[in-house]
Amino acid sequence: MTITEFQQHKRDKRKLIVVTAYDALFTRIVEQAGIEVILIGDSLGVVVQGKPNTLSVTMDDMLYHSRLVVGAARRALVISDMPFMSYQASQEEALRNAGRFLQAGATAVKLEGGVVMADRVRAMTSIGIPVMGHLGMTPQSVHALGGYKVQGKVKDQAAMLLDDAKALEAAGAFAIVLEAMPTGLAKKITETVSIPTIGIGAGPHCDGQVLVLYDLLGLFDEFIPKFVKPYAQLKEDALQALRRYKEEVQQGKFPSDSESYH
Ligand code: KIV
Repeated sequence: MTITEFQQHKRDKRKLIVVTAYDALFTRIVEQAGIEVILIGDSLGVVVQGKPNTLSVTMDDMLYHSRLVVGAARRALVISDMPFMSYQASQEEALRNAGRFLQAGATAVKLEGGVVMADRVRAMTSIGIPVMGHLGMTPQSVHALGGYKVQGKVKDQAAMLLDDAKALEAAGAFAIVLEAMPTGLAKKITETVSIPTIGIGAGPHCDGQVLVLYDLLGLFDEFIPKFVKPYAQLKEDALQALRRYKEEVQQGKFPSDSESYH
């Protein structure tokens, strides 16, 4: 999927379906399921690396996983998340780091922040780097926000988030992720901007939805936010399989004749 096709979905009122992926195996499975947009989220810091938040994820980590996904993707639009401190310190650093993701094969980058990041977004889009914004509960600001909390509940905060969305649109962002905010605010932002909004914990009125793959599959259960719906219980399946394997080896049932060479 191209950026133009992605944006056409909003005009056609066709929902955009986005999931995260971090490796080749799951990229192939995601594509086989007909999902056309893959985000290599810095959520990999939590679900792959086992860290408490996304702050320690590095450019090298993100580039490594981006290459795995890009190498396996055949049709999907691939978006790489810019990790903490890869774009905040200076415009030049932000540009160079964004460029590295496109050189690794991603089609676009995602970064967190609105009005304060508008100059970064403008600089990137003006040299041909497509940028997805990310507003609301922005995990790279977890400490400043006092934890993983719904954003935009009070009037002033909601107005600021609407201004952030307008600033991202004006700076040339091709889409905006809206995370953990009241349904009404996400609806208002979606109706106000002409670029697609992709919700995660932002209700049903966004132009599309995104979920972390391991949440969706029921693989990650250390922290399950209200907005996550596990569509499978793969952790349970994995546990059962591993326990059976252990038992069968202990009991001498595995390997049997059919798994042995003669
Ligand atoms: O890092 C991530 O996976 C994300 C999505 C949840 C939007 O930013």
